[in-house]
Amino acid sequence: PRTTALIVAAGSGLRMGGGPKQYEPLGASSVLAQAIDAFLRYPGIDAIRVVIGPDQHAAYAVAIGDRPLPPPIVGGATRRESVAAGLAAVSGDRVLIHDAARPIVPAAVIDRLLTALDSNDGAVPVLPVSDTLAAGGETLGPVTPRAGLVRVQTPQAFRLAAIVAAHAAWDPANEATDDAQMLRAAGGTVATVQGDPALDKLTHPQDLANARSRMLVVRV
Ligand code: C5P
Repeated sequence: PRTTALIVAAGSGLRMGGGPKQYEPLGASSVLAQAIDAFLRYPGIDAIRVVIGPDQHAAYAVAIGDRPLPPPIVGGATRRESVAAGLAAVSGDRVLIHDAARPIVPAAVIDRLLTALDSNDGAVPVLPVSDTLAAGGETLGPVTPRAGLVRVQTPQAFRLAAIVAAHAAWDPANEATDDAQMLRAAGGTVATVQGDPALDKLTHPQDLANARSRMLVVRV
């Protein structure tokens, strides 16, 4: 099957407190390029498309360097809209939708996702929740039992026709934080495979510093 990696990088990184985190330096390249390289290295990926913000062409060019990629796709105001813009430019049988803000993509996770996709319309990497979950505020609110809850990461793997249909059927009045919930809402089945802490999203400024120091440890 023909498989495309669709990397969404059109966010503005507001919670990061600086510019968009996906274009920040990381290791020998950038956050975005680390994710791109994981898919370039993976033998089963036939194409890579990146979705960027309308004002991010210059930052994108610096971040990808001389990697051989087709022109980027311009995204939208929300992650969901950015993915939809990307899907419109993808063809083939399967798509792996990935957040650029997750620079470290273990090949073993892609292996598990693609295997699960043989018998499901979608597959996502998940990890158990290890902290207590409770309503926040100035004083602590009620606890939500964490048993059975998981954290859902990306890449999320889909049969292309199924996720395109799920996007078309989604009510745009609601926001969606990922694509798997859209496939579920459309009646599809999403398999869960084991995720990896290395895939955690860079959201707050400290996350980037942590990723840099982890990378130093790995590179020594
Ligand atoms: O904001 P959040 O952390 O959920 O973003 C997840 C991913 O979606 C990031 O890689 C970000 O660049 C991307 N995104 C996007 N278009 C938007 C908002 C977020 O491609 N409008």
